[in-house]
Amino acid sequence: MSGNADIYHEMIVDYSRNPTNYGKLEDHDVIFHDSNPLCGDSIDIAMKIDDNKVTDIKFDGKGCAICMACSSVLTEITKGKSLDDVRKIEKNDILGELGLEHLQAVRIKCALLSLKVLKSALYTYLADHLDDAQDVDRLKEDAANLY
Ligand code: FES
Repeated sequence: MSGNADIYHEMIVDYSRNPTNYGKLEDHDVIFHDSNPLCGDSIDIAMKIDDNKVTDIKFDGKGCAICMACSSVLTEITKGKSLDDVRKIEKNDILGELGLEHLQAVRIKCALLSLKVLKSALYTYLADHLDDAQDVDRLKEDAANLY
């Protein structure tokens, strides 16, 4: 492994042993659950939202090292962001942090499970708080273009 690959590998191992923002968030405004159909691993993401900002976030569940590392990075990136900025988070924001841009297709679902759960939680929250049909259509479009 090259120097950078070693560092990224160590980061993934560290995150999988000591995931950040891991556990249950009892006082949440939205929670969503989904699983990876290939392995059955599953993740919950709960968020506390104040003034259109994510003031707290935790993930819970089980997954492989890549899944746990990506969930940790994603929750770190998300905490403190406005809902508009959370909508703009893309897969490369997470993959790039861990040197996973060229991940094999079979592992990409491991890496992006938490992003899928986060976006679903966000859309659930927004759909409950929007009354403009156009905005709901925009959310559906966003969801369809997730990957
Ligand atoms: Fe289950 Fe990676 S093997 S999420």
